[in-house]
Amino acid sequence: MNVITRLPVLPVSYDPSFEVADEDEAETRDELVKTLRSISETTFKDSGHATRSVHAKSHGLLRAELRVVDDLPPVLAQGMFAKPGSWPVVMRLSTVPGDILDDSVSTPRGLAIKVIGVEGERLQGSENAVTQDFVLVNGPAFSAPGAKKFLTVLKLLAFTTDKAPGLKKALSAIFRGTERAIETLGGKSETLKALGGHPETHILGETFFSQVPILFGPYMAKVSIAPISAELMQLANASLDVNGRPNGLREAVVNFFTATAGEWELRIQLCTDLHTMPVEDASVVWPEEQSPYIAVARITAKPQLAWSETRARAIDDGMSFSPWHGIAAHRPIGSVMRIRKVAYEMSANFRAMHNSHRIEEPRDLNDLPA
Ligand code: HEM
Repeated sequence: MNVITRLPVLPVSYDPSFEVADEDEAETRDELVKTLRSISETTFKDSGHATRSVHAKSHGLLRAELRVVDDLPPVLAQGMFAKPGSWPVVMRLSTVPGDILDDSVSTPRGLAIKVIGVEGERLQGSENAVTQDFVLVNGPAFSAPGAKKFLTVLKLLAFTTDKAPGLKKALSAIFRGTERAIETLGGKSETLKALGGHPETHILGETFFSQVPILFGPYMAKVSIAPISAELMQLANASLDVNGRPNGLREAVVNFFTATAGEWELRIQLCTDLHTMPVEDASVVWPEEQSPYIAVARITAKPQLAWSETRARAIDDGMSFSPWHGIAAHRPIGSVMRIRKVAYEMSANFRAMHNSHRIEEPRDLNDLPA
């Protein structure tokens, strides 16, 4: 379908006045960072290995290629999508908790991608790199309108870090049942999902969302990555029994990529109306009837060993993914995004220091284990 006919209204141009910080944003940020650090400290004390404060467990570590869609109209040809090109990409599939849990504690899933070799004016703090990261979760909006409300959920997660795994499994089964009951009644509880109530499905069937916006050249957009190859699409909502298989998600990803390739679209949703598509309320799903997600790039991953200890050392320990790694044309916007900058830096520094493992932005993928 012609892209222009699917975008009837022109996007809103960004203006700094759209970003309004709460007076106490700095205190909320500090409290969030302190809570995240306490999660990392707890898990480090237990395991002797420093992991991410959240999204600690990886289920797939892929090497792929991203290619810009041909002949994008000017409104979509922005930032790294401004001209045709293709780049190597690292993809990391994860689940939310900061501790490494049995997969039968079923939680929301994340996908972080790092595109390597992107040119353009850099974001502050990312000046010496050539990467553009997109850091996404499998739901269209954030669990809270802003960082302050998120802090209460995070404190609950921090409290459950390190609690008896058996108890977590039992609670997860209860939360999954309750979440199903709530969904039957037409609702969704993101907090229950975060605590283990996520349905037990194949992680490769998921569609991922940035939930919060970035600049898209002069405009503002949310980002999504969705499976488009038939083999991936048939995994959407496909149930996966991980009971008795603590790393069942990872095994399913490795099995898939043993002989099968995967293809996804990277889509963007332009803000065309500030009232229905706010910048500062992260809990609002931007209506797709008003502004659909439109493909600007395709990502392909060939069959490969999709997880190994050596790749985990290189990517889990040796890399950090952050929306603040990138070019100025894709600057993250809104309170959740502003706070993420410091939080991701803290977590990466904690890992680098305690594991004595340098974390650097890659300039190529020559050293990535096959
Ligand atoms: C105020 C809000 C948020 C805070 C404080 C926060 C904090 C963090 C931290 C500290 C990490 C670990 C970073 C590292 O050690 O490298 C992380 C990872 C991650 N976060 Fe967030 N986050 C927030 C919002 C979000 C949102 C809105 C999304 C996506 C929709 C998201 C998705 C992810 C994913 C996928 C990872 C794993 C990245 C990887 O694979 O390295 N987060 N987050």
